[in-house]
Amino acid sequence: MDVERWTLNTQKGNIALVSWIRAEIERRGPQSFAWFMQQALYHPEHGYYSSGRCATGRKGDYFTNVSVGALFGQLLASQFSEIWECFGNINEFVIVEQGAHDGQFARDVLDFVQKRLPEFFDALRYRILEPFPILEEQQRRRLEAFGDKVKWPASPEPFTGVHFSNELLDAMPVRLISDGTEKLVGLDGDKFVFVEQSVNKATFNQAALETIDQIAANLQRGYVIAIDYGFLEEAFERTVQVRARHRNLNSPFEQIGDADITMSVHWKSIIERAQANGLRVVGFTDQHHFLTGIISQLGSGGSLEPPAGDWGQSPLPDCAKAKRELQTLLHPEMLGRAFQVLAFAKKIDIEAPPLAGFKFARHPGQRG
Ligand SMILES: C[S@@+](CC[C@H](N)C(=O)[O-])C[C@H]1O[C@@H](n2cnc3c(N)ncnc32)[C@H](O)[C@@H]1O
Repeated sequence: MDVERWTLNTQKGNIALVSWIRAEIERRGPQSFAWFMQQALYHPEHGYYSSGRCATGRKGDYFTNVSVGALFGQLLASQFSEIWECFGNINEFVIVEQGAHDGQFARDVLDFVQKRLPEFFDALRYRILEPFPILEEQQRRRLEAFGDKVKWPASPEPFTGVHFSNELLDAMPVRLISDGTEKLVGLDGDKFVFVEQSVNKATFNQAALETIDQIAANLQRGYVIAIDYGFLEEAFERTVQVRARHRNLNSPFEQIGDADITMSVHWKSIIERAQANGLRVVGFTDQHHFLTGIISQLGSGGSLEPPAGDWGQSPLPDCAKAKRELQTLLHPEMLGRAFQVLAFAKKIDIEAPPLAGFKFARHPGQRG
């Protein structure tokens, strides 16, 4: 969405939140879009996510890889187990998930690993970094069957294993800065409007960069795998998406607190920040190629080989539902090209073979 085309009317939305934001702007003057986005999504009581109102999937506001079905988590579980094997089947292997929403991805991974990869299951420790109590409660309910296997540390802890996120970075607050001008959110009567002011060198995606600092500081040895939609520098479009009930809204001032707001990820600055923190890029490709790489290794031996069962002899579950899920995840016009996968490594031998997901890695901008 082009920010210039936003209509600046407040429509519907969470009344308590809209009144609170309005009062704050009246009191403090125009605020950055990052501040506005923080309130709309993460205000402790009324935010779209922090209130637990966010819903994904067919009956929710938008689809994510996770909401498509269990297959996404199952394929990622295969990738995690390959990493565990490369680590020499260590006794304690930690998956840290951030942006876990209702815990469905964790459940898909753990269900699969428990049934298919029992040795990996014994070694696996699952940690969820969750700032919002209401989401933690939902996750605890969904993951109850796994007992102590899953924990919610009060603050990030050092770990060896994998940090995983799906659509975390695009949900981080951003400032709207372009050509030395910043758009602040102000008021005209009771309507929200943009107020422009000139700005010196400023970072627009500070929250995402600080998240990378935090991950890098806690990762002792292992990988960071981030899946999201965005652009490398050359193609970067500063697009903000506002979504509710599977509709793209025209403005972030519509349905405040009842709609999702995201900004495409600026992968180049994420990569630079990670490198400055001692992480090494070990793969960057689109989701289609990433998942195809994992699938191509299924059945090739090691832990990527699925034991017989409801997956039959096929490397993939042999049912119509799974086929539909696969198509949605892989198809270039569905999620296959929309999302990219970036992986970093720390203290991993430079000669180590590429992860299965990057076997067919190609630059996401490449055609063909
Ligand atoms: C777009 S949703 C993605 C949810 C889920 N990963 C999925 O793919 O269905 C973004 C999630 O990131 C969470 N989030 C945002 N900032 C966070 C932070 N600093 N730490 C942990 N989670 C965060 C939000 O609460 C929300 O659940």
